[in-house]
Amino acid sequence: MADKPQPTYLKDYVPYPFEVERLDLEFDLEPHHTRVLSRARYKRKEHVDVEEPLRLNGAGQTLLSLSLDGTPLTALDYRCQDSGLVLPNVPNAFELTVVTEIDPEANKALEGLYLSSGNFCTQCEAQGFRRITYFPDRPDVMTRYTTTIRADKQRFPVLLSNGNLVEQCDLDDGRHLTRWEDPFFKPSYLFALVAGDLVCQEDAFTTMSGREVLLQIYVEARNADKCDHAMLSLKKAMAWDEQRFGFEYDLDRFMIVAVDDFNMGAMENKGLNVFNSKYVLARPETATDDDFLNIESVVGHEYFHNWTGNRITCRDWFQLSLKEGLTVFRDQEFSADMNSAAVKRIEEVRILQSHQFAEDSGPMAHPVRPESYVEINNFYTMTVYSKGAELIRMMQTLLGRDGFMAGIRLYVQRHDGQAVTTDDFVAAMEDASGVDLDQFRRWYSQAGTPVIHVEQHYDGERQQLTLDVTQSCPATPGQPDKQPFHIPLRLALLGPDGTPQPLHLVNESGQQGAEELVLSVTAARQKFCFEQVGEGCVVSLLRDFSAPVKLTMNTSRDELAFLMAHDNDAFNRWNASQRLAGGLLLDLVDRVRKGQKLILEPMFVEAFRTSLLDEQTDPSLLALALALPLESFLAEQMEEIDPQAIFTAREFVRHEVAVQLKDDFLTVYRRCADSGPYEVTPQAVGQRRLKNLCLGYLAALAPQDNMIWQMILEQFSTGRNMTDVSAALGLLADHDNRDSRHALDTFYATWKEDPLVVEKWLGIQARSRREDCLEQVERLMGTPAFNLHNPNKVRSLIGVFCQGNSVRFHAADGSGYDFLRRQVALIDPFNPQIAARLVAPLLRWPRYDDTRSALMKQALEQLQAKTTLSADLYEMVSKGLD
Ligand code: PHE
Ligand code: ZN
Repeated sequence: MADKPQPTYLKDYVPYPFEVERLDLEFDLEPHHTRVLSRARYKRKEHVDVEEPLRLNGAGQTLLSLSLDGTPLTALDYRCQDSGLVLPNVPNAFELTVVTEIDPEANKALEGLYLSSGNFCTQCEAQGFRRITYFPDRPDVMTRYTTTIRADKQRFPVLLSNGNLVEQCDLDDGRHLTRWEDPFFKPSYLFALVAGDLVCQEDAFTTMSGREVLLQIYVEARNADKCDHAMLSLKKAMAWDEQRFGFEYDLDRFMIVAVDDFNMGAMENKGLNVFNSKYVLARPETATDDDFLNIESVVGHEYFHNWTGNRITCRDWFQLSLKEGLTVFRDQEFSADMNSAAVKRIEEVRILQSHQFAEDSGPMAHPVRPESYVEINNFYTMTVYSKGAELIRMMQTLLGRDGFMAGIRLYVQRHDGQAVTTDDFVAAMEDASGVDLDQFRRWYSQAGTPVIHVEQHYDGERQQLTLDVTQSCPATPGQPDKQPFHIPLRLALLGPDGTPQPLHLVNESGQQGAEELVLSVTAARQKFCFEQVGEGCVVSLLRDFSAPVKLTMNTSRDELAFLMAHDNDAFNRWNASQRLAGGLLLDLVDRVRKGQKLILEPMFVEAFRTSLLDEQTDPSLLALALALPLESFLAEQMEEIDPQAIFTAREFVRHEVAVQLKDDFLTVYRRCADSGPYEVTPQAVGQRRLKNLCLGYLAALAPQDNMIWQMILEQFSTGRNMTDVSAALGLLADHDNRDSRHALDTFYATWKEDPLVVEKWLGIQARSRREDCLEQVERLMGTPAFNLHNPNKVRSLIGVFCQGNSVRFHAADGSGYDFLRRQVALIDPFNPQIAARLVAPLLRWPRYDDTRSALMKQALEQLQAKTTLSADLYEMVSKGLD
């Protein structure tokens, strides 16, 4: 590469030397030639040198004119560089007017102003605003915006921006105008504009202080019947945020717009959230239960940002987790309250353990508050989001819910209207609660997943149980040595019948006799001794997953089986089932690799049958406990990953369980059969999950077992909702025969006009167990169902194949790697963000056997050798080869 993109460092942060008192924007929208006029009032901050130039960010636009206090500037008055403008001699206070032209139609990076299905929309986080006009595009520059939009009235009847609508009128030549005023100070990344031919579903919400807020969801006309669930979710989120956090909405209207072309999930622009249509549109016939639940959670997430992100924002992008970690925590709590808390917690942890832990042990490992980045877009990661949310949760655990809420109130009281740091957040928590979080702060600065090892010793004579706890954390790039973390370890002692025993810590002055305790683990090695402990007690540790760590402990398989059946912490019951199944599977993987005969332990099948036939427990929890550990979870625990052996071992267990428990699966399948109208209640969702779990196991016997095969076909053709239909189709698509081809064709013919359903169809085929899966994927890429410019399509075909179909992607001949390399090279020139995300699986090459790792590395090297890499892809590839 000619010039290597340079990193930005946290330590180099300097405040912006000017204040921006206001910003007026005017847009004349034309797909190929949009004119943007921006008028900003700048004021030099006190104590800033008069020599200090004005620096503005800007890229990908044509500068038409520049004037200062009304006087046009000439080329001598400023320097125009690749990355922006520098004006060396500016007065202490002045108004700067910039006129630029941009080409939204040509914008396929989907950053800045672009067109999606013929409608204009913007995406400014993190640094997209600089593609719209020249401006200090950084989150600590906050100002008040007014936005005037002019466009052809017929093509673009709806013209939206942030805040309140203050003017609307018709112009000459069939054009019209709207003007919006946002009364709140905001950073440029929260600016939004939408213009298009959209219909709108309206509702209203009365806030706790009695203000009426207009709620609007804008979609293309063909989707008008798919907004009810998002609207309901929004109203629930608004009410919940008032009750749980005391946060009230602050504008007269709240708008959501759904677009088909979007790099991420959704965006919290002030008063005008823009969503990937996937997280808005749903009807039972087109969306699955998980889609419905995701919509609720994403609508909540973006709405919750209004306080945690918008009113209080980030000082710089290293602080991204300030808003994202906190807001993910809030959306998790919201979903937990709306549905089943235990189910939600298990799902979160399952994703964290398989994906965030993997990130933390790979070349992209970074702290929740990173120290440097080449391209900030590469840092919208599981670590910043999910691990960041775990840090907030740990603070709540350490402070207690009341202490935590006091911390939140102090945080808002101190920082409303400001751009702040994660340290400011922790300081508010400390000051409000009196709890010392000094050591806890290391969670923000040290990368890597801590490993806790616990040795238990029981002394029957003295009725004492000692837990000998050691912690360590593996080295990560740039951080060879780690200091001990402050780890909240929630635990209970279960008596032989499963009841929690009163806990008595030796040498503790505090409260004794509780049934559950949170130990603060702070040293590299620490012992905790409990007294009055009777014979046969079992320790239940890391309850509710009280810290994002890997826990190892000398627990026997019998103890695991006991916990799986009796722990009164639902998370730990699930965790015990995963540890048990995980241990068995890893043993089997080992046997596969050694070419030994595979046998399934009878105790496992029995434990499985007991759960399957349990009619008391929430069926969603059963379905989670009965699902085999994810391939990625097993891979994460292997020294050298063998995708083929993992696949073989899992398929063996799946088949063996199906053979031995066929009748039980059939019984439960029939018991959970669809009845009544579709509802997204925990009970109904749970029934469908358990039913489809049974069908998934039974499918291991088909198509040889024709009765089972017919059952799957039957569910596919008579299923009354997308959850059941797509579950059946997924099982059919694992095979190549007349029935499965017919099913895939029928499904496509029915839904080809609905892009979100077509995505499911692509995803199902990309996940297929068929050996020729890659061939199918390549074939599908050439059909009208696919579009390389649409991120959802790319994710559901290429992304699913490379990240969700491990055994086929890691084909020993390297065909999967070569495929991914070619696609990344094709996408990078027009959409670097998507290319950089897609390449991630190749970065894990050091974890595989010599043949695979050489091929993966080679694919990365071929990418590196290209002359024109985006900064996004450059950073990923070079970190992967470091
Ligand atoms: N801020 C968005 C969210 O989490 C994510 C996002 C980042 C969207 C960057 C677009 C671009 O809620
Ligand atoms: Zn967010």
